[in-house]
Amino acid sequence: MTDRTDTIARVREHYNATGLTDRIQSALATITPENQELTIALLAPLDQFHTRGILATGELAAAAGLDPSSRVLDLGCGIGGPARYLAANFGCKVTGVDLSPGFIDAATYLTARCGLSDRVMFQVGDALNLPFEDAAFDAVFLQHVAMNVEDRNNLYAEMRRILTPGGRLALYDLVLRDGDVLYPAPWARDASTSFLLSEGDTRIALEQAGFKAVLWRDDTQIALDWFKAAMAGAPRNGPNLGLVMGADFQVKTSNLARNIRENRLGVLSAVLIRD
Ligand SMILES: C[S@@+](CC[C@H](N)C(=O)[O-])C[C@H]1O[C@@H](n2cnc3c(N)ncnc32)[C@H](O)[C@@H]1O
Repeated sequence: MTDRTDTIARVREHYNATGLTDRIQSALATITPENQELTIALLAPLDQFHTRGILATGELAAAAGLDPSSRVLDLGCGIGGPARYLAANFGCKVTGVDLSPGFIDAATYLTARCGLSDRVMFQVGDALNLPFEDAAFDAVFLQHVAMNVEDRNNLYAEMRRILTPGGRLALYDLVLRDGDVLYPAPWARDASTSFLLSEGDTRIALEQAGFKAVLWRDDTQIALDWFKAAMAGAPRNGPNLGLVMGADFQVKTSNLARNIRENRLGVLSAVLIRD
């Protein structure tokens, strides 16, 4: 296993977002007045940093059984799109945690502009060392984050610790299939910060940590269809993930699509219950 401090520094560097809030603010000013409340739908091309965007968040959220009393952690929350979606659609309180200070700053800004600051809060933190008491949450969302975490046993043990007994872990992951993964990819410039597992090894690690699957679904084909439709369609106007991912956004995204198309990677959705 590689040195943890060094890995954290390199993952943070990959998601370095200096000046991101200002760039987002300027880009939004071209499509909507500053004093106008933003909607979840308007932000969706920008703030859902994973395959199939808001569609995937919506499906996973529906399967996770949330209600207004749920205390939810969105771990590796990026700029907060999924956290805002959960609060807006289920009325629950959501805490977002991410390694990247620039992402947390942008998440906090966008949440205020959506009028959701009373229900969604954010803080910088590391998934393997969370500043929460045992059993502090009823549900944890982990969408396209685990591939940046080398020590999966520790990651899932930490999820178990902060979940209440019977609490739910909702996962949306890329999983290793056959052949070498192409980089740069949206989550890593090269293999040194990419820690993908196969679907089988992911399940073993989760079960060993004390989780039982109530949903375990292969979303690879639906992801492929989505990439195909997105690439065939006209480019969308307005702020999109390119603002977050940087100059080589197109290369990273097309490598991800190719990894899936060539069966190097699969896409997995799962909801698991903590014992
Ligand atoms: C591909 S983005 C997904 C963001 C968000 N889950 C979404 O779907 O919009 C991966 C995120 O995981 C975060 N991350 C990676 N390793 C982490 C760690 N050890 N602790 C907390 N966040 C981490 C990154 O900073 C990044 O924001």
